[in-house]
This record gives sequence, structure tokens and C-alpha cells, in this order.
Amino acid sequence: MFPEYRPRRLRQNEAFRRMIRETVLTTSDLILPLFAIGGKDVQNPIPSMPGQYQLSIDRLVKTCLEVKKLDIPAVMLFGIPDKKDALATGAYAKDGIIQKAVKAVKDKVPELMVITDVCLCEYTDHGHCGVVEKNMVDNDASLDLIARTALSHAKAGADMVAPSDMMDGRVAEIRESLDDSGFSQVPIMAYAAKYCSGFYGPFRQAADSAPKFGDRRTYQMDPANALEAIREVTLDIEEGADIVMVKPALPYLDVICRVRQEFDLPVAAYNVSGEYAMIKAADQLGWLDGKRVMMESLTSIKRAGADMILTYFAMDAARELHAL
Ligand code: PBG
Repeated sequence: MFPEYRPRRLRQNEAFRRMIRETVLTTSDLILPLFAIGGKDVQNPIPSMPGQYQLSIDRLVKTCLEVKKLDIPAVMLFGIPDKKDALATGAYAKDGIIQKAVKAVKDKVPELMVITDVCLCEYTDHGHCGVVEKNMVDNDASLDLIARTALSHAKAGADMVAPSDMMDGRVAEIRESLDDSGFSQVPIMAYAAKYCSGFYGPFRQAADSAPKFGDRRTYQMDPANALEAIREVTLDIEEGADIVMVKPALPYLDVICRVRQEFDLPVAAYNVSGEYAMIKAADQLGWLDGKRVMMESLTSIKRAGADMILTYFAMDAARELHAL
């Protein structure tokens, strides 16, 4: 107790502060999400995500070379197809945008881990993450298409697949179809506790994936629930998930912390588009120091228990870390 114990003693200079630092962010913690689109030499800025772009495959590969140079171990790919339809055909087409993007990146930057987001919402004309029957998202009818999508990504060379649809039973379905086709070594990063969040707004502009009717409340989780997150994570682990994800990150640090304490699998956290947009906007307005709150946010997500962070800040943060 004071005055014997004085916490300020060990804060008096940077050397002491470094010695007692509990959480150290490194580039190994980061995964950069990227958006692939058709065409050549295309780099469409995403208005609500300054510094982020829809990239044609040639440009995407260039960005991946940068990512590799910055010592970031992995990227997560999202695709924007030329055409959308009711059955999300573009999601599992052999020559779909993601399948081509994965091949190109693995060909040119083989050491970089390529994770693919597995979902139907960017490929369905109605914008939902599953098959729609009578204005309802039909869980079981969606599973086959989701598993086909994951398998097509693995066939294209994806190092890991990450289902984000939140249909019940999809992890087991994907595991089985991967194993049956000789891809038993491809891990599944499950978006296990994915909340129905307003923070996905900018992403839906980026991926053109907003639902055309209704919302995602019948499959994504209610932001009010944390015990349910434990049940969702338990299910995904039982079905074969190798890494479990909590999404979004900053408004759900308590969930990250609980998942970390309850389970011994690696935990990922997705620092989503809206979290990125808020900091970029406030920085542009001069209302806060963008770099500083970026590093503070990422460190907080790691402190809460995340082993890896999907973040649009990955390259900015890596540059900061290399400058240190
Ligand atoms: C696809 C998907 C979404 C995000 C990741 N995968 C959008 C959604 O569920 O509506 C959001 C990512 C972000 O906001 O950065 N289902």
C-alpha cells in the first residue's frame, strides 16, 4: 500500500515501462482483409474506408507483395463478382473471382497465407448469406452451397477457409467436404461469435453485400448476448473449427476475453470496417490522433485475449511497428 508501494516507480522511464509491458503487438498478430474485383489495373477507393480499395487481381497481387514485405503473415480475401444470382453461383464457380485471386496470389507470393471468407452474401442477388425460400433464409439448403464454396477455395489453393455466414452446422459440413476431397490439412477459421452489427456498414458498401430485404438478425447474434457466444463457440469447436473468431472486436472485448478464458483454441478477433471508419474519420477531422488510437485499439484487442487480429489497419500498424 502507498506510500511503500508506488506504481509510478516503474513508470518513470521508457526502459522500465518496456520491462513491465504485458502486451506487445507484433506484425505476426495481423491479418489484412482485401477485396478482389474483376478487370485490370482497377483500384476503386472505398469512400467510407479511406486507404482501402476494391482491387483487380493484378493490383491485389502487388498489394500482397507489400503485405509480405511488411512481415504480415496472412491476408483474408473477399470477392466482388461480375454477376449475382439467387444461388450465389459465383461463390463456388471454378473461375470465380476469389478462385482466380487465390491462384494468382499463391502463384506470385507463395509464402503469404491466403485465408478466404466463405459466405454467399456477396454473390446472391438478394444479399443474404444463405439461400432464400419464401422470404426466409433456409439454413439446411444453404449448407451444401457453403461447403461447395469452401471446397472450391481449397481447390484453388487457399491455405485456410473462414465461414462467416452463421448458418447452423456449416463448420461440420465444410470439414466433411474438405476431408472427403483430400483437404484434411486445410484449417477452418470459424466466425464463431459473429454479431448482427451496425459496424459492418462500410464493408457492405465495399463488397456490395447489403441485404435487399430484411436484415441478418435471424442468423447473426444479438449484440446483447454473451453466454450465447460461448454456446456458439462450443458448437463450432465440436464441429471441427481450428480457430474461433469473435466479430466485431472493440465493442465485444468482453466476449473475446470470455472466449479466451473458456477455450484453449487460438482466438481471432475481427476489427471490422466500422471500427476502422470511425478512427479514420475522426483522424481526418483532426479530432484525435489516428495512429495513436489505432495502436491503442489493436493492443487492447490483443490484451483482451485475441491471438490474431483481422484489421484494415494491418499495413499502417506494421509500418508503425517497423518504425519503432
Ligand atoms: C460476410 C461478411 C461481412 C463481414 C465479413 N464477412 C458482412 C456481413 O456479415 O454483413 C464484415 C466485415 C467488416 O465489416 O469489416 N458475411
